[in-house]
Amino acid sequence: MAAPHSDQAEDWWRSAAIYQVYVRSFADGDGDGTGDLAGVRARLRHLAELGIDAIWFNPWYLSPMADGGYDVADYRAIDPAFGTLAEAEKLISEARELGIRTIVDIVPNHVSDRHAWFRSALAAGPGSPERELFHFRPGRGGHGELPPNNWPSQFAGETWTRVCDGEWYLHLFTPEQPDLNWDHPVVRQEHEDVLRFWFERGAAGVRIDSAALCAKDPELPDADEDDTTPYVDRDELHDIYRAWRAVADEYGGVLIGELWVPDPDRFSRYLRSDELHTAFNFDFLARPWNAAELHASIDTTLAYHAPVGAPATWVLCNHDVTRTVTRYGRDEDTGFDFAKKRFGTPSDLAVGTRRARAAALLSLALPGSVYLFQGEELGLPEADIPLDRIQDPMHFRSQGVDPGRDGCRVPLPWAADAPYCGFGSDTEPWLPQPGDWASYAADCQAADPTSMLTLYRQALRIRRSEPGFGDGPLRWLPSAQGVLAFTRTDGLICVVNVAGEPAGLPGHASVLLTSGPLDDQGRLPRDTAAWLRA
Ligand code: NOJ
Repeated sequence: MAAPHSDQAEDWWRSAAIYQVYVRSFADGDGDGTGDLAGVRARLRHLAELGIDAIWFNPWYLSPMADGGYDVADYRAIDPAFGTLAEAEKLISEARELGIRTIVDIVPNHVSDRHAWFRSALAAGPGSPERELFHFRPGRGGHGELPPNNWPSQFAGETWTRVCDGEWYLHLFTPEQPDLNWDHPVVRQEHEDVLRFWFERGAAGVRIDSAALCAKDPELPDADEDDTTPYVDRDELHDIYRAWRAVADEYGGVLIGELWVPDPDRFSRYLRSDELHTAFNFDFLARPWNAAELHASIDTTLAYHAPVGAPATWVLCNHDVTRTVTRYGRDEDTGFDFAKKRFGTPSDLAVGTRRARAAALLSLALPGSVYLFQGEELGLPEADIPLDRIQDPMHFRSQGVDPGRDGCRVPLPWAADAPYCGFGSDTEPWLPQPGDWASYAADCQAADPTSMLTLYRQALRIRRSEPGFGDGPLRWLPSAQGVLAFTRTDGLICVVNVAGEPAGLPGHASVLLTSGPLDDQGRLPRDTAAWLRA
């Protein structure tokens, strides 16, 4: 196994390959149908062999799972469906022994309605100090029967819920996720303590959920359509994250923002040297499979990161969006847009898989760190979940229009011939696996030199052994229409034929890796990428 990218270095995060584990669907250690920490521990070898530098775990805390764990009832306890705190500590240290760091997920915008704070706020009643930790308000209208303002929810549906004493509380997501009041010093102090709690248990970093939403205009004014300024990307957030950075710095920890902030200038402000270390690059994720679009996204990303000295990140999918293979296999709309998700959008998975392979080599060759969502290394497509098995609140709150996010969260196939494809369950897993899931099983792919898994293993191995990849400069090379070509340091070249005629390769001494075969004249076909050494 190659040495991890700058394993000992403080700046490991500038070039890291980070693998996202959605615990519920990764591997089931106790057979009950839900993935758990025992399952992850048993599969750490797979991750070490894949060649990643860190794991980001989606929330694993005590939660009623109204939103897949993004409704946290207690940050200092592991949900019993996943295991125990002692097991989490073991997992963190076992992973570290394999050269893999741990990133935990903190959800500051809201808690679960079962969180002790919210239970106390409900019991204490209007005007109580307990209610000040949240946004409780009287309603409008003659009898307080109308919500206090007109903000739209991030999940469709209502943003305010009325409680029995007549007051309303704000929830930008589901009613089970009441928003916290970040003007309150207790809310700030508690989150800094939670950061310490996890850094002291060995976490190397923290992914910050909905990082642009916590601060609200204290007046909670109505917002005009498309005006999100009262609750998105408010200037007050920067002070909050400066305080978090001071805590992170005490432990050498890393802060990673989930920032859906489309304006690149405003986005990069969060990455100033005393704020977050990095943030997910959703602009790149949202772009269609189109050379000009990808080129523009790469340029904008690099241009806006450079002045603040932060490395870019490259993300193709996660637990909220349509899986890459399915998205890229569509005729049109190969970009990602929450608003456009519909049932039954056709996709040519063979085309999507070719493009996803090429996109893997593209993203792994770009400057900065890269994120990989579990199952991406297996080339899993988005699954169709039978209507009566859907669990995602996004589906229900859209009145059934949006299929929701369960299609990318299906339990992983580990072994083609085992029950439930080796996920580990003795009983049907919490989400059903599609009929052809065994054909994606990790055990078959490991033995197949042409598989997605083999491609990712090869690419990550080369990326680790070549310091020219990861953080550092990029220079575009001249290329034909529809083709992206750039060079990194140490003579490394990446060429991607996104949509052009078969393309001659730029001058090179050797071909390090291709995402698919070259044609019989040694040219790079459409939907194919190559790594070369000049
Ligand atoms: C973003 C998370 O990625 C998503 O899964 C969750 O539903 C929302 N934030 C609310 O926490």
